Formats: sequence, structure tokens, C-alpha cells
Amino acid sequence: MYSRITGTGSYLPEKILTNKDLEAIVDTSDEWIRERTGIRERHVAAPTETTCDLAEQAARCALDAAGKHPDDVDLIIIATTTPDKVFPSTACLLQARLGIRGCTAFDLQAVCTGFVYAVGVADKFIKSGTHKCALVIGAETISRLLDWTDRTTCVLFGDGAGAVVLEAGDEPGILSTHLHADGQYEKLLHVPAGISTGFAEIQAESAFIQMKGNEVFRVAVNTLGRIVDETLAANDMQKEDIDWLVPHQANVRIIQATAKKLKMDMDHVVVTVAEHGNTSAASVPLALDTAVRRGDIKPGETVMMEAFGGGFTWGSVLAVM
Ligand code: ACO
Repeated sequence: MYSRITGTGSYLPEKILTNKDLEAIVDTSDEWIRERTGIRERHVAAPTETTCDLAEQAARCALDAAGKHPDDVDLIIIATTTPDKVFPSTACLLQARLGIRGCTAFDLQAVCTGFVYAVGVADKFIKSGTHKCALVIGAETISRLLDWTDRTTCVLFGDGAGAVVLEAGDEPGILSTHLHADGQYEKLLHVPAGISTGFAEIQAESAFIQMKGNEVFRVAVNTLGRIVDETLAANDMQKEDIDWLVPHQANVRIIQATAKKLKMDMDHVVVTVAEHGNTSAASVPLALDTAVRRGDIKPGETVMMEAFGGGFTWGSVLAVM
């Protein structure tokens, strides 16, 4: 029994915030942001738009692409760091909107690696034979976690959602998933505020993303290099066997370093960071859907997805489309 991606979808909020727009908000420049990150613009959710709103649009789009009706879905996983509510989970909110009753639904939190983790979990549900059709979504309104006076973080992130339908089948699909974490790195990338640490007394600055960018950068490049090797070795594959790399879209320099490790031409690496910024858990499925809809990634091709994020967490998915 295998699981296979049978449809992809995505959604971006209407409002676009360019680097030029940011120049009016913080002491930064279009040139600095483009040179250091590759980002030109990002989408930002409207004040009334929530993570579930974005997730719903992406989910419906993926269901259409897979030719599936909501009633066919027996598992919903939403990877998000920015849920609509403390509870119920955003997956339960989405389930109600889709009019599905009774199926398994939960959120998963692994920050930027969330979607890769969620595919890993859904794949195991399907392989075990308990579930047949999963809706796996990465959705974020990460703009709500940004201090818009902190130029070291607010220029990096954007909002959006991406989704896949994973179905059970006899042919391989997902070949392997590799999920890792090391909590020793908590303080390099975190939002200090939380629920059990004093929800009612949250101080403004502790409710926003804090990141030691250059230290995160160094660990990310090394770690993603290792996950590429691990994924190839687990499948007894060579670098040349990979048709497409779909990396987490945090920084084009990190993406280029991973592509170099794979000896992969950049025209076989999906890069959407210029238009999306870092959308955390939404970044990989957004990039995947963009490449599928452009007709770049074709059925039968082998795709390596990888991500790195807060925790630290990191992981990969190797899939035949
Ligand atoms: N505009 C202008 N100057 C800036 C800005 C800005 N927006 N931000 C920082 N600077 C300045 C700094 O103050 C510093 O100035 P100084 O030399 O006078 O002190 C200078 O630019 C260089 O700063 P660095 O932080 O060393 O710049 P670096 O080249 O490392 O780039 C960046 C910063 C883009 C954040 C990079 O380190 C990075 O991409 N890190 C990894 C991010 C990542 O992958 N995160 C993981 C996923 S996110 C998640 O899980 C939620």
C-alpha cells in the first residue's frame, strides 16, 4: 500500500506588500532584501482573513484537481503555527466548512517544516490501511506574528496556503519521508509567548518572531545538505534520479546551496520565494502547486521536498508525482 499525491492546490491573499512598500515602514531597502534573501514581494492576509480562510481555498482547489468531493476525505491535517483559535483546531474548523462529519482531523505544529511533517504523518496513516484519502494542508497567517518595527524579521515572511490530496494506491507515490528535530536550538528562532507561560499577560515584543538570522542560516544550510544525502541513501538513489527539488522558500541563498549539494541546475529547482516570501508551513505546498500548475512538474517525475524551521525541525519527502 502506498500513498500518492493526486491533486495540489494553493491560495494567496489578495494584498501584495512589495519591498518598496516596506521601505516606508522600516529602515530597509529593496536592494538589501533582494540581495540577502531573493524576496521581491509577499502576500499579506486582510485583517478579517484567517488561516482557515486561506486553508479552505487551497483545500477546495486541491480537491478539484484530484477530482474528489469533500465526502471522500477521511483525514484532514493542517500544518500551521498560526491557528485561528486556541481550540478547536483549524482542521476541525475546516472540516465543518467542508461539511464533512466524523473523519479524523487535527493540526500539526512544526513551524516551517510543518507540511513535510504532515505529509509524513498522513503517509503513515494511509500505509497502515486505516485511511484512504487525506487532505494535507500547510496554511499560515504568519504576518500576525511579525513585529512591523523589526526590520530583521518583518521583511522575510508572507501569508498563504497550499494543499495536497493524498490517496491510497498500489503504485508508489510517496517513496519516503524523513522527519527530524533538535529542541536545543529553541532560542535561535522562536515566539517566546505562549498559553501556559501566561496568555493573559503577553508582552507585545514576546508575541512576535525573534530570530538570530545568520546563525539559523548556517545551521539550515548544513542540515539541508545532510537531509538530501539521507533521503537519497534511504532510497538507494543517485542525485541524477531527482527531477525536481521543491525546497522550503526562506532564502534563495539557502535554496542555491541545497541545489549545489544535489548538483542540480536551478531550472529544476522550484523557486517562489521572490513572490511569496517565507510562508512557513505553506511554503513547500505553495511552491509545489505553482510548479504543477505551470506544467513544470509532470506526472511520473520524482520530486524531493525539503524544509527547515523553528524547533529546529527539518525533514524531506521523496515522491513520484
Ligand atoms: N534591511 C537592511 N539591513 C538589515 C535588514 C533589513 N531588513 N535586516 C538586517 N539588516 C542589517 C543588520 O542589522 C546587519 O547590520 P550590521 O552589519 O550593521 O550589524 C546587516 O544587515 C547584516 O545582518 P545579518 O543578519 O548578518 O544578514 P544576513 O546576511 O545573515 O541575512 C537573513 C539575514 C536574511 C535573515 C539570513 O540570515 C537568513 O535568511 N537566515 C535564515 C532564515 C531562515 O531560514 N529561517 C528558517 C525558517 S523560518 C521559520 O521556521 C519560522
